[in-house]
Amino acid sequence: MKLFGVLGDPISHSLSPVMHNAAFCALDMDCSYHAFRVKPDNLEYAIKGAGALGFGGLNLTIPLKEKALGIVEPTEMAKSIGAVNTVDFKNGISGHNTDGIGARMALTDRGIGIGGKNVLVLGAGGAARAIAFQLAKDGARVTIANRTVERAQALARDVAAVGEVTASGFGALDKLIRQTDILINSTSVGMSPDISGTLVTSDMMHPDLVVFDIVYNPLKTCLLMEAEIAGATTIDGVMMLVYQGAEAFKIWTGVSPPVDVMEKAVRDALS
Ligand code: ATR
Repeated sequence: MKLFGVLGDPISHSLSPVMHNAAFCALDMDCSYHAFRVKPDNLEYAIKGAGALGFGGLNLTIPLKEKALGIVEPTEMAKSIGAVNTVDFKNGISGHNTDGIGARMALTDRGIGIGGKNVLVLGAGGAARAIAFQLAKDGARVTIANRTVERAQALARDVAAVGEVTASGFGALDKLIRQTDILINSTSVGMSPDISGTLVTSDMMHPDLVVFDIVYNPLKTCLLMEAEIAGATTIDGVMMLVYQGAEAFKIWTGVSPPVDVMEKAVRDALS
């Protein structure tokens, strides 16, 4: 039996165990995935201990992703993003970040291309960072808009090393969205318990817009309801969660997991 785990604090609500165990079960792999509550001060012991115990791999979540950079051997992408969400033990202890790939795959899974597209990323926190880096690297023209414009500017300066990017505040969102192909909410606005929050309303949207909300609690956020009213294409946050997990699964095992099984496990757990 090979063990896998997700480390974080808090961790009891993580959907990763149910998602990965469903994939292991569907593939008849002798593997098991568990959640562990780990404080930042103990992260190094936890990662090295898991390696010593023969774990197949780890995921990291809040508040451990940034701290892990100094403990593992990070990939270039994890270094750029400044956070590690996947640890692999095959060659030493390597640290990856699959969040951006999760976002990209959530889009391409729906037949939405990235290269040359105008992508508006709302937010400049950890999630926005991973998404902006990945999509800029994939050839999108990225605009980062954030309530605190200085944070958007700082992120854009970093992302400029890998692709085309500009920064903005929320003042000109109307105009920005008219020129946008793909709008991604990477803020916590709309997340339970404040489910009536949205940064963009239907009157600001157009039918050719793709609206992707990384929030999956609730599944249909206020932003996605507004997008439906505008006739825009909607993508909920489940697929980013599933695809970041699928990418980690591939890194650990070399096997492409059944994403439909993982998606069903997550949707069942959420409903
Ligand atoms: P994460 O790592 O999950 O992305 P974070 O680093 O705390 O979390 O970032 C949260 C993001 O949501 C930020 O972009 C934040 O905007 P500020 O940088 O201006 O704080 C954004 N955010 C949170 N609540 C918001 C609100 N009520 N209105 C607008 N933006 C909000």
